[in-house]
Amino acid sequence: MTQSASPFLQGVFAPWRQEDNIAPLEVIGKLPADLQGVLLRNGPNPQFDPIGAYHWFNGDGMLHAIRIQNGQACYDNRWIRTPAFNLEREAGRPLFNSDLTQSASPSSAQNMNTSPANTNIISYHNRLLALCEGGLPVEIQGANLHTLGEYTFGGQIQRALTAHPRFDHRCQEFLTYSYIDVDGRLLYYRLDRHQQLIAKEAIAWPYASMMHDFVNTEHTVIFSVFPCTMSIERMMRGESIFMWEGDQLQTHFIVTDRMGKEVLRIETDPCYVYHFGNAYEEGHTLVIDALKSAVAALMPDRQGQIVTDERSAAHLVRWRIDLQKRSIQLEDLDLSLGEFPRFDERFNGYSYRYLYRAGQANPGLSLDRIMAHDLLKNKKSEHIFGADMPGEPVFVPRSPQEGWGYILTVVYRTEEDRSDVVVLDAQQIDAEPLAIIKIPHRIPFGFHGNFIPAA
Ligand SMILES: [Fe+2]
Repeated sequence: MTQSASPFLQGVFAPWRQEDNIAPLEVIGKLPADLQGVLLRNGPNPQFDPIGAYHWFNGDGMLHAIRIQNGQACYDNRWIRTPAFNLEREAGRPLFNSDLTQSASPSSAQNMNTSPANTNIISYHNRLLALCEGGLPVEIQGANLHTLGEYTFGGQIQRALTAHPRFDHRCQEFLTYSYIDVDGRLLYYRLDRHQQLIAKEAIAWPYASMMHDFVNTEHTVIFSVFPCTMSIERMMRGESIFMWEGDQLQTHFIVTDRMGKEVLRIETDPCYVYHFGNAYEEGHTLVIDALKSAVAALMPDRQGQIVTDERSAAHLVRWRIDLQKRSIQLEDLDLSLGEFPRFDERFNGYSYRYLYRAGQANPGLSLDRIMAHDLLKNKKSEHIFGADMPGEPVFVPRSPQEGWGYILTVVYRTEEDRSDVVVLDAQQIDAEPLAIIKIPHRIPFGFHGNFIPAA
């Protein structure tokens, strides 16, 4: 695909190539008095038009901060200064491929990690970390979004880490893993409340696959191997690092204890999951919620074809893995399509009730609604944005009780080529927004972010 034809450089995806500080922002409605902090978003935003084909997953990471204080809001955005970004900045032109093939082009950068740090931004013990599964976390200065450099957890981890680590709020443990270029294994890491590495385990997997997310419960960690294979050799040959091979390979779930020691390995039908919701234990059964599609969206099959019809669209499912019977069952929770599941993450790993996600009326790149699922009552409610496009819903708690709080999402106003941050009441997401923060320009559709409450 030529760059001009890439839908990921147009409309809501088109890069925004200015770094701004804008204050104050116009607010419609009233920002809640107890909503104080910063909504951080990360996403791909190539600083130059790509050399050739462009894959959305490879654009330079740009951070967007919407800072909310005493009913007012301001905005700033900065690119993440990765080594590859800096090299291209210095050259004044693109040097690296932006597809999913061999990426190191210039001879001066043969061994450079070209991770764009573009996928997520989290707070870890008061440090901001920009995450992308192809590289180490990149530490960011909160006040001004300046890049501080790679973060190695005090030298304890020197590997590319997932953009979707899990945090157990009850015991304050941080769980993460590495899967890119680690010699046919996964590497699992567990850090305790004192940020000390207390488990590091290599886990053999049936085949190398694109493992974008994982889940944990109180006593277990669940790695899922879906048949979207990963091959560095393929990438070095100039082909896609990831490939959908669900016509030949099964899905495998690998359950370990929290130390990474294997408990169970079980096979099931081929499918793909980019993002899980929560997981928890019901006696000997593990309950795992996910947005599942029949094939991996955005990835080529062996013929180089990328499926864009309903087979690549995800809906909400629940797997139950019975550790005693060593069985697995799949149940559809809701057949409507969507992506970007989130929940009240204070309950990560434990029984929960509410899951939020973006939804879509049809398969494809457009999202048109935010959905809240009450999993206890099997009910859902929706906030429909019509021709405008919301992103991932971020839950912000305002009470110790699960689900009492706000949903924040960045919404692209299609007609105006501009974005708003919409604040919804999480208990009433179908009601009028509590507040709308108006950004004067577009925030390109990105991946993930979080709300960091004011200290
Ligand atoms: Fe993700």
